[in-house]
Amino acid sequence: MRITRPPFAPVDFKDADLLDSAWYATADPHALWAQLRESDPAYYCDPADGREPFWVLTRYEDVSRVLREHESFSSRRGTMLCIVDLSMPDFASDEMMPDTDPPRHRQLREPVNRALTPRAIAAQEGALRRIVRDLLRPALDGEVFDIAQAALLFPMAFTGTLMGLPSEHWRRMSELTTMTVAYDDPDYAVGDAKTTLRLAHHELFDFFRTEVRSRAAGGTEATDVIGVLRAMDVDGEQLTERQLILNCYALLLGANVTTPHVAATMVRMMAHHPEQYRAARADPELRRPLLQEALRWASPASHFMRYAVRDVELHGKTVRAGEPVSVWLGSANRDERVFERPYEFDGTRQNNKHLAFGVGPHYCIGSGLATLGLQLLLDELLELVEAVEPAGEVRHLASNFVAGYKNMPVRLTPRAGLTDRKLAGAGA
Ligand code: HEM
Repeated sequence: MRITRPPFAPVDFKDADLLDSAWYATADPHALWAQLRESDPAYYCDPADGREPFWVLTRYEDVSRVLREHESFSSRRGTMLCIVDLSMPDFASDEMMPDTDPPRHRQLREPVNRALTPRAIAAQEGALRRIVRDLLRPALDGEVFDIAQAALLFPMAFTGTLMGLPSEHWRRMSELTTMTVAYDDPDYAVGDAKTTLRLAHHELFDFFRTEVRSRAAGGTEATDVIGVLRAMDVDGEQLTERQLILNCYALLLGANVTTPHVAATMVRMMAHHPEQYRAARADPELRRPLLQEALRWASPASHFMRYAVRDVELHGKTVRAGEPVSVWLGSANRDERVFERPYEFDGTRQNNKHLAFGVGPHYCIGSGLATLGLQLLLDELLELVEAVEPAGEVRHLASNFVAGYKNMPVRLTPRAGLTDRKLAGAGA
């Protein structure tokens, strides 16, 4: 989706189809969100074609409230608006971490948390740095380089390593995870949207079934995340095979469909705001706020969804028990009630309370891993790259869930005096 700035042309939001994935590849949701925040912050979207209606919340305060208040807004019936019928039960309810509420949620989150401790993540730093160098090195030959395409493999490489997934499958897995969120995008669709979704799910679940079973056949317990999850018991119970598969899928999806777009955003912003990157090169203290601003700016997970558990009053309207409620993180992160100059990329922004990783019990469990990977990417960009220049048309993903890039051609100028040793990573 495009990231634009005011003044926005007026949009008639009654005509906008928030479910239409193709719309996000070409249109400007920021113009629509800004208008909704102002004039109808609890908008009841009732599609004319008979699809299930749903609520649309765009203000920071409401988004944050819904994500925190699991007693009023449940995750058990699914958390994404997609092509499935919103009135149907969710296939992974109570079994896949994102689709649970506390206390069941804690039972599934706890083992993953134990597998992704800060120590386990920190132990990956060397491997992560190599992954980042591998990502940037081919771009340093002065030729046009598509950072959006290259970044797709970035999270796959670090979650693949952590989960012990064979590297020959990484490219296909990355493609399959994108298919699950961009099923209408002509570059990813295989037949119609439902077929694409079914095919991607089927292949991913099959893949994880094989991985889980290979850990079981191995005799000694594997030390990768899948092995650790298999061996763990929570409150006296082990995860079933189905739960293992679903939660591996959730981890991979969580990483793959979000992180590349923040990586691409960081590179793109270097072209638009070189002075902010020069400042961060000189002063490492500026790197953290710069990365946080890239997360706010990119907000790759556009929305999440909950179902109301009881009647709730919002802005003078009543959300009835059982109704789907979508909350728009990309909009909350531009809310002028919370952020000063929200449409300005300011790498020195203080107190940046963005919701890119969500908030509340489902706060992104991969945030530590994603942050470390992106921090290393920023360090390496500053170390290896003098300048970034846009070199062609930026194309956006057709997805109502992910605000992402399909293509972003750039030309990188390497810093003067880079030695082969440094490029190979030996200088790190
Ligand atoms: C920049 C990168 C990332 C962004 C912007 C992001 C965003 C989010 C957000 C907004 C949520 C909250 C969902 C909700 O409230 O329903 C979430 C949850 C989650 N994320 Fe991430 N994520 C990122 C990276 C990752 C990575 C690297 C992993 C895996 C290693 C991951 C795995 C998950 C999982 C499994 C959940 C569900 C947690 C739960 O239900 O308790 N994410 N993510």
